[in-house]
Amino acid sequence: MSRPKNDAFLRALLKEPTDFTPLWMMRQAGRYLPEYCATRKRAGNFLNLCKSPSMACEVTLQPLARYDLDAAILFSDILTVPDAMGLGLYFAEGEGPKFERPLREEWAINSLSAPDPYDHLGYVMDAVSEIRRALNNSVPLIGFSGSPYTLACYMIEGQGSSDFRHIKGMLYSRPDLLHKILDVTTQAVISYLNAQIDSGAQAVMIFDTWGGSLSASAYKEFSLAYMQRIVAGLKKEKDGQRIPNIVFTKNGGLWLEDIAAIGCDGVGLDWGIDIGSARRRVGDKVALQGNIDPNVLFGTPETIAAEAKKVLDSFGPGNTGHVFNLGHGISQYTPPENVTVLVETVHAHSRTLRK
Ligand code: CP3
Repeated sequence: MSRPKNDAFLRALLKEPTDFTPLWMMRQAGRYLPEYCATRKRAGNFLNLCKSPSMACEVTLQPLARYDLDAAILFSDILTVPDAMGLGLYFAEGEGPKFERPLREEWAINSLSAPDPYDHLGYVMDAVSEIRRALNNSVPLIGFSGSPYTLACYMIEGQGSSDFRHIKGMLYSRPDLLHKILDVTTQAVISYLNAQIDSGAQAVMIFDTWGGSLSASAYKEFSLAYMQRIVAGLKKEKDGQRIPNIVFTKNGGLWLEDIAAIGCDGVGLDWGIDIGSARRRVGDKVALQGNIDPNVLFGTPETIAAEAKKVLDSFGPGNTGHVFNLGHGISQYTPPENVTVLVETVHAHSRTLRK
């Protein structure tokens, strides 16, 4: 199997030269696109959309039809894994994700087991293969999972949280129970990501949205150590091609050196950190992905272009090692036409930096 025609995203992660800086956007398929809202309406709700391989494929391709993006990301959600573990995921309209059976009791924690990805998450594997066929080797497909700590936040809180008192209460009173949850979830994530790779994902990303809410020592023990185990357990090659991985801890900038040391190929950055100083801190150990503030997309064409150039100029000279992205998911209120300005500026300006 050969690489996609546009393989700049894979090359940048693997530190091979590229003619321009590749970019994609977290949540690039989402509610800011009217065509996404139309498909979601047809699906009935968000979870039906995730569980239908053909509709998941359709929305994955929507942003690529509009914009010159350099990678596709599987349309799904991180919470499909705890759903497959039996917690009962649902999305109450306008309220975000919830679980029918949050994980708090010792007996429930002890009976937790890692799901077979081809059985309980077969719809994700079907979506991955369908998307690969539809992409027809144009750009690479990114698979993903949540980090064990971030998944555990939703599993234990039962929904999003502003203080995480249930999971942190467990962390500081029954760390053994939390470690048990994280251990089983880590096994689940390894087999889930490897199944995505076997089904056709050409790179994988771990979203650690909530690791940054921990203290430095708790982050290392309860989030980073498990992501290190995942990275170690991932397939690194498929059909003779390297499968790069990216680790993204939101608000993890303080621990960048530690993250870069776990053996990952790329580290995702939120917009709080200057990407040039991040690069000086990690040297050429890992590629960096990021990191414009998604709210820049509420600016004018001129400010969007200027802010995009700032990120590229701050990363500095060189012809590889940077994947441009937003520092977090795109807002549902983003005017779609503003994304065109971002994409065109990143491609054009990064070419001038290589001359
Ligand atoms: O990037 C992509 O385009 C791929 C698809 C993707 C989604 N969720 C689709 C989605 C990915 C990679 C995710 C990851 C995800 N899901 C994370 C980690 C990344 C992050 O954003 O921090 C988390 C924490 C979740 C859990 C989750 N799913 C929440 C908190 C919500 C509600 C947030 C909101 O904006 O309403 C979701 C729902 C969700 N996942 C939507 C999309 C497009 C919006 C759902 C809708 O259409 O109603």
